[in-house]
Amino acid sequence: MQILSLIRNRFFQALTGWIDQPEEYASRVSIARDPQHGDYQANIAMPLQKTLNLPPREIANQLVSRLSIGDLCHEAEVAGPGFINLRLRDSFLAEQLAAAAQDSRLGVGCLPSRTFVIDYSAPNVAKPMHVGHIRSTVIGDALARILRFLGHQVITDNHLGDWGTQFGMIIYGYKHFVDPVAFHADPVVELSRLYRLVQSIIAYQNACPKLEKLEQGLNVARKQAAEAEAAAKVDSKQKKVAAAALKALRSAEDNLAAVEAIINGFQADPKNLTVAQQHPDLETQAQLETAKLHQGDAENLALWERFLPISIAEIESVYRRLDIHFDHTLGESFYHPLLSSTVQSLLDAKMAVESEGAICIFLEGFDAPMLIRKRDGAFLYATTDLATIEYRQREFQPDVILYVVDHRQSEHFQKLFAAARACGYTDIDLQHISFGTVLGPDGKPFKTRSGAVIGLEYLLDEAIQRAHQVVCDPQRMQKAGLEMSAEESQEVARVVGLGAIKYADLSHNRTSDYEFNTEKMVQLEGNTSAYIQYMYARIQSIIRKSGEQLDQDSIAHFAIQLTESAERSLALQLLQFEDALLQSLDEYYPSVLTTYLYTLAKQFASFFDQCHVLNADSEEVRRSRLAICFTTGRVLKQGLGLLGIGVVDRM
Ligand code: ARG
Repeated sequence: MQILSLIRNRFFQALTGWIDQPEEYASRVSIARDPQHGDYQANIAMPLQKTLNLPPREIANQLVSRLSIGDLCHEAEVAGPGFINLRLRDSFLAEQLAAAAQDSRLGVGCLPSRTFVIDYSAPNVAKPMHVGHIRSTVIGDALARILRFLGHQVITDNHLGDWGTQFGMIIYGYKHFVDPVAFHADPVVELSRLYRLVQSIIAYQNACPKLEKLEQGLNVARKQAAEAEAAAKVDSKQKKVAAAALKALRSAEDNLAAVEAIINGFQADPKNLTVAQQHPDLETQAQLETAKLHQGDAENLALWERFLPISIAEIESVYRRLDIHFDHTLGESFYHPLLSSTVQSLLDAKMAVESEGAICIFLEGFDAPMLIRKRDGAFLYATTDLATIEYRQREFQPDVILYVVDHRQSEHFQKLFAAARACGYTDIDLQHISFGTVLGPDGKPFKTRSGAVIGLEYLLDEAIQRAHQVVCDPQRMQKAGLEMSAEESQEVARVVGLGAIKYADLSHNRTSDYEFNTEKMVQLEGNTSAYIQYMYARIQSIIRKSGEQLDQDSIAHFAIQLTESAERSLALQLLQFEDALLQSLDEYYPSVLTTYLYTLAKQFASFFDQCHVLNADSEEVRRSRLAICFTTGRVLKQGLGLLGIGVVDRM
């Protein structure tokens, strides 16, 4: 049920033939912010004041008299300077809710289908997976589920980073530093150690030459700050200069400290120093290994083929636990054989040009061109992405491609989309669904104290454990009269813990950074999935106690009537499910759906607080309220399901 579009449609009809652009004005009907003013509100009269040259209240009155909406709403009310307030009829709400209750899709319609490719998750394999990878995975999965539910054709594709420079680092590490026993015992752990080792040597070697310059810079900044401060004491006009000099000093201190931290951390183990001396300029060496791999060197290719399945297996185990599935996993390596022909055809079509030995695409509106082949013949990330668009167009003919990728890549995507348009892909709507960083308690990107990024599997375990502590606390269980086998409580903790990780991510505005905190995310109060899952379980317990067999068919015999205000608000919220789903796709914000579900759960709580269900005053009211409970449970379950989050019947 799309109540909002139904009402907008009536306004559209009333405005047609009276003003220009009736659709634009009809779209100004929205859900009322304050329920005291009704359920929906139209702010149309004020913006029309100039055009119609009439007082807004007069316009509002005329609009109301043209409006034919009596079957849905009570008499429209003109308020304040010219707002139109609408209150739905209880009979309309009850009727619609009964229809939704009996519908397998809860009254949610299907849209005319469009084809979406969703490019998400896409970790760079062979590096340890960490919490930053969650965002793309969880947001992409939720969008895929919502789009599918609304009737779209969705193709999910995991564009794995399986061909990048990390392999050069690991291959170098393997050739020089592998511990064969450790590799045999646990190849994932050993490969991850090799990656970190090579990375730390490179970081050290890059840091050392910077040290002297940074120290000099700090001395200069100190001197300038001291001079500026002295000058400011004499002349207060110099205060701004002094503040700027102080700021520059702080940043010089920070830069030096960061480099010193890398050097000291590395040197803490004296063996490291010898290793760094024995492997000078490791960055170049690792790059050479990558280049050899890309040129088809047999040894490196064999190593890559050996390492790849090992790290993919690790990622897949995370996907399995999170219930994430892809239609395709076409990583960067898949496109490698296609890249020369992509570049050639762009050259042939005069889209790309040679410039100082490299091949690039010049783009209007960008200072630097997009490089697609380096002078040494190497291809780039952007080249693969262009080949990927070409492939997707050929194979899937998508209407839309969503790239769910970190905000730091926004420039890459802006250029890529401009290049794709220049190359003639003007019919595909290309969208970068960007997201912010996952932060630790210190407000910096999430890391352990030692500086290593925490592994993802470990965090999943931790969330489950915390969920167990909170939800399966023996005292709480006893109070709630819930006796659970160890098996059942483990399952509850799993569903709550994994749901919490997803929900915490989805409920934050995706473009903002957010703090990852497993303790907060499993709480039973506040905007958490645990709270919503708990309301779901309460509903199931009410239904069990009622002794009724409720399902989509039998519910037809439970007539709905709305009398109390808490009951009415809950019904209205239930009927706004489809509007919330559609709105979450307007700009691809799953947080619209989490907010909707949280509000629904809270409204259920007040309904249950204010209205007796099992011992209602009459049998009719009892049956009506059971139907409302049942339908709320279904919407909560469906909504969480669209976010990839499960429910349990008892918790
Ligand atoms: N592997 C990349 C990374 O981790 C993300 C890939 C996103 N998808 C794409 N088509 N570029 O940074």
